[in-house]
Amino acid sequence: MKTEKTFIIIKPDGVQRSLIGEIIQRLERTGLKLVAVKMIVPDENFIEKHYTIDPEWKGTVGEKTIKSYREKGLKPPYDDPHKVGNIVLGNLKKFMTSGPVIAMVLQGLHAVKLVRKLVGGTEPFASDVGTIRGDFVLDSYQLADIDGRAIRNLVHASGSIEEANKEIALWFKPEEIINYRLIQERILYDVNLDEILE
Ligand code: CMP
Repeated sequence: MKTEKTFIIIKPDGVQRSLIGEIIQRLERTGLKLVAVKMIVPDENFIEKHYTIDPEWKGTVGEKTIKSYREKGLKPPYDDPHKVGNIVLGNLKKFMTSGPVIAMVLQGLHAVKLVRKLVGGTEPFASDVGTIRGDFVLDSYQLADIDGRAIRNLVHASGSIEEANKEIALWFKPEEIINYRLIQERILYDVNLDEILE
């Protein structure tokens, strides 16, 4: 459990808004350990690979979008989740290749769920206050769809341990993941804090 890994991307909007430090700080200060990090400009093929690692992704993202429209009493642009998923993927390919992104791996207890909690829901307009998306950006599905672009939500974070493992293997070579110890892990994880008093 203590070595669970998750994968995060600071998207082009996060880099352009000078939020790299702020985002890493929010994730890092929980005690999670940064074990891999790099800046790259991905190409469209790579982004398609990333988002279709999960074969169900198009349907899921489409359903989520349609549900969000209906919850707000709005009519979704299409009723077919796969059609919505395909449009979202096309827009994401443009968005995610528009400039450099930061890819990273964080490790620690419940890393996947913890990072998703800190990041907040997909749509910034509906993400909780106190989350990265809730605090630093204001986009909505509605505006993104009217403008025919991907939602600008600063970060991507893996949704499950299985997804994290696949995404890490796609973005990083095994030797780019550094296995090291942080001194604070003794405070975070040791059962007895028995080396504090001299
Ligand atoms: P991410 O966590 O990277 O996972 C899929 C991404 O697709 C999501 O963040 C958003 O950036 C984008 N996205 C999902 N649904 C929509 C939508 N309906 N319109 C535009 N972009 C979307």
